[in-house]
Amino acid sequence: MMTNAYPKRLIEVDLPIKKISEHARREKSIRHGHISTLHIWWARRPLAACRAVLCAALWPDPADPLCPREFIITATEQMDRFWNTLDATNYDLSDLTVLRRALLDFIADFANWDNSTDERYLSTARTLTGSAHVALGGQPGTRPLVVDPFAGGGSIPLEALRVGADAFASDLNPVAVLLNKVVLEYIPKYGTELADEVRKWGQWVKEEAEKELAEFYPKDPDGATPIAYLWARTITCENPACGAEVPLMRSLWLAKRKGRSVALKLIPNRDEKRVEFEIVENPKASEVQDGTVARGSATCPICGYTTPVESVRAQLKKRHGGAADARMFCVVTTQHGQQGRSYRLPTEMDLNAARSAADELKRQEIEWSGELSLVPDELLPPVGTLGFRVQQYGIERWGDIFNPRQALSLVCLIRYARKINPSKKDEKFSEAVRSLIALAIDRQADYLTSLVVWANTGEFIAHTFGRQALPIVWEWPECNLWEDGSGNWDGAVGWIVRVIEENIFGNQVHGQIEACSATNHILPDDSVNAFFTDPPYYDAVPYADLSDFFYVWLKRSLSSSAILSGSELTPKKDECIVDPVKNKDKEFFETQMMVSLSEGRRILSPNGIGAVVFAHKSTSGWESQLRAMIKAGWTITASWPIDTERPGRLRAQNSAALASSIHLVCRPRENPDGSLRTEDVGDWGAVLKELPPRIHEWMERLSSENVVGADAIFACLGPALEIYSRYARVEKISGEEVTLGEYLEHVWATVSREALSTIFRDADTEGFEPDARLTAMWLWTLSAGNGDGDGEEAKKSTGYSLEYDTARKIAQGLGAHLDQMPGLVEIKGSEARLLPVRERGAHLFGRGGLSAPQKEKPAGKQLTLGGESVDGAYEAESIRDAATLEFTGETTLDQVHQAMLLFAAGRGDALGRFLREDVGRDPKFAKLAQALSALYPTGSEERRWVDGVLARKKSLGL
Ligand SMILES: C[S@@+](CC[C@H](N)C(=O)[O-])C[C@H]1O[C@@H](n2cnc3c(N)ncnc32)[C@H](O)[C@@H]1O
Ligand SMILES: [Zn+2]
Repeated sequence: MMTNAYPKRLIEVDLPIKKISEHARREKSIRHGHISTLHIWWARRPLAACRAVLCAALWPDPADPLCPREFIITATEQMDRFWNTLDATNYDLSDLTVLRRALLDFIADFANWDNSTDERYLSTARTLTGSAHVALGGQPGTRPLVVDPFAGGGSIPLEALRVGADAFASDLNPVAVLLNKVVLEYIPKYGTELADEVRKWGQWVKEEAEKELAEFYPKDPDGATPIAYLWARTITCENPACGAEVPLMRSLWLAKRKGRSVALKLIPNRDEKRVEFEIVENPKASEVQDGTVARGSATCPICGYTTPVESVRAQLKKRHGGAADARMFCVVTTQHGQQGRSYRLPTEMDLNAARSAADELKRQEIEWSGELSLVPDELLPPVGTLGFRVQQYGIERWGDIFNPRQALSLVCLIRYARKINPSKKDEKFSEAVRSLIALAIDRQADYLTSLVVWANTGEFIAHTFGRQALPIVWEWPECNLWEDGSGNWDGAVGWIVRVIEENIFGNQVHGQIEACSATNHILPDDSVNAFFTDPPYYDAVPYADLSDFFYVWLKRSLSSSAILSGSELTPKKDECIVDPVKNKDKEFFETQMMVSLSEGRRILSPNGIGAVVFAHKSTSGWESQLRAMIKAGWTITASWPIDTERPGRLRAQNSAALASSIHLVCRPRENPDGSLRTEDVGDWGAVLKELPPRIHEWMERLSSENVVGADAIFACLGPALEIYSRYARVEKISGEEVTLGEYLEHVWATVSREALSTIFRDADTEGFEPDARLTAMWLWTLSAGNGDGDGEEAKKSTGYSLEYDTARKIAQGLGAHLDQMPGLVEIKGSEARLLPVRERGAHLFGRGGLSAPQKEKPAGKQLTLGGESVDGAYEAESIRDAATLEFTGETTLDQVHQAMLLFAAGRGDALGRFLREDVGRDPKFAKLAQALSALYPTGSEERRWVDGVLARKKSLGL
């Protein structure tokens, strides 16, 4: 096999993933000035991770024998100055492995948001990037070119500029292209001047629009100012004898803070066939009624009849979702010079203002002669589109999301935004200012829909796109955009100005931005030094559909922009995702991805480097992505999981939620002239032999970095692929080619076995039956590295779900067959569920069964561990004769579960006997019980039960 005649980059040798992950997680809670606050873009990559990966990919490893001398010299000088002089740390840089460590330590610290604009870091990084580029063959004085063809919100190209590279960003989506334009071109080009001008014109738009709209946002006679109007969609009660108006409300709480709470009370008004409201200050929680909707069905507060969800939908459907004729039920106000918010019922003045706004909108629509409708009438994507759940309620056009006053206000902002005339003569500069004001209108729109939520715990408005989805919202707050509350116009402009100000790094280098599909890149062959991209993750986010929300307003705000293609909606056809509604299946995704990555390889120079980010919780998602990479002619040379989830984020306890995304580092499998290498053939036997030790070593590293569970399983794909993808093809002795699918079956099996031996450290894992191995592995897969659910009350367990295919693959490696374990695993459609212990009673105790109590006891009132009696409802059970129990389970796992159920049911005597006479001295029983105690999620009832069994065993001296 041909060896590569170029030095490894740092990222192909090592990466401080733990520290980078810490910085990436912390960055998610940083708000001011971060580019994510410029505008919504879904699934943005943390800058910390991009920055670190870029540095480590662009800089060679100084300890590599092929590393150019000149880079070693520069790196030594830079690290000596940075650490030994400025920081007073002492690195002996004459040792090249120490020099490597100094560089990696630098990269770890530079990932910190607080250091990202620090001149000491910036100049060091840029010097190293320039030196590496020239040392690796670049022209003196030039910078390496980094390309990202799936640029999204622009994290990767922005970081490329920061670390001293040139950046070329493209995306299929015009909204993403506009965001990149701002971040990579307008901000570096115009800097502070741009910030000042945006602030100034934002203020001008405000003054003009506020004047024009003043009558629709009246102040209270006592001088208080409404900051939000709360509305509820309504239906008519379908009880034939009733027919009252039912306001649809999920909750009646208005404020729910420590020390201050406010709620609504519903007062039936039978004569008028409607409800009236009353505001209650500091109510007892038990006094607050339930809302009127639950799971989409609406219960009438007058007659108690429940109108089913289908009828609720049918009624709203006729009224385009019912935002335009909703019921205003409360007004939130603030009083000048006073803290806090007040709540009052709407007055005739409030209702009139909203009505006249609707009339005014109607008038303007009649007079309107523009090419596009005044309020966007473009269609939402079809019913069934991933994440969209509003069309079935009649929200079919983008304009249906807004109530009339909201639409009127947005339309007014747009009219003034189009009149702004920045002072500088340069047309490009004016376009920049206009673009940023248009983005401010988008930010405003995000807060000004009927799909926002009143966050009663903080008394603020939670914007529309808190998630990558558009679910229906029954009651919502309409903000008064001119006043001092969340979601107002000052905020929209202020956040944007802040992003401009915080992203000026001084070197004035700007990037190049194009709108194009990754499947058809416009750059010439071999013209790029690094290909670093974060493509769509299989079926995770419908970017184009979501972005239409903003696109329809941008079209109206920026009619003459070169960036917006002038098409009705954003392009969908070439978008590289899995989406059944658009007939985009696994094959479509794989082909699109393969073509995109082939394009990436084509434009990259033969000695260039690639990095592709991917995360998915299904094996099928991963297999598609990997197959695309291999078919596209890439060799994987390293892979690094970077954990980006915010600490403390609630992880679903019973489904695999990934915390990390994997950075797959890759090289073109090419000859020095750029042609694809096709002659390297790998021997299947040798490949299989290399796999287990590689996975073993990698698992150890991962667990030392706190990467466990599903994150660790998927993180093993990289090293596995390093072995396989070294070759153009891998062959068996017979000459038959080994497909990636076949190889991956072996990989899954190896990974399961390896993981299992880390779970049962120093135990003979072969000694356990398949059911124990499977259970342990299953629970481990679902476990999260950074602590899950500590300190919660024991929860009733509903089992542990995994995607069927993932579960099957894990099981296979452990010698277990899912479909042969009916008492342990339930398979339903594409999901497999490991049954919770409470559902195993019939399997473990024969016909009579034994069940755990339906409700867990509150903490503190637990069963007495040593004693034989228990309090309350289960006492009757506990004195029943244990002899009536039939123990039907057979394996060690069954025995542990039997003991757990006896404990849960309060069968203290029976448990004691079972431990003393049957299993208490069996080392396998103890080993498994201990392992399970570590694996059941903290706070789960199973964890409590198994710990109870262990404590009981101990108290019996066993
Ligand atoms: C995971 S996002 C990138 C996010 C980005 N790294 C960030 O931090 O904001 C993937 C992007 O791929 C884009 N995309 C999807 N299909 C594409 C195609 N065929 N060509 C170019 N871009 C495409 C989407 O519009 C989306 O912006
Ligand atoms: Zn009724």
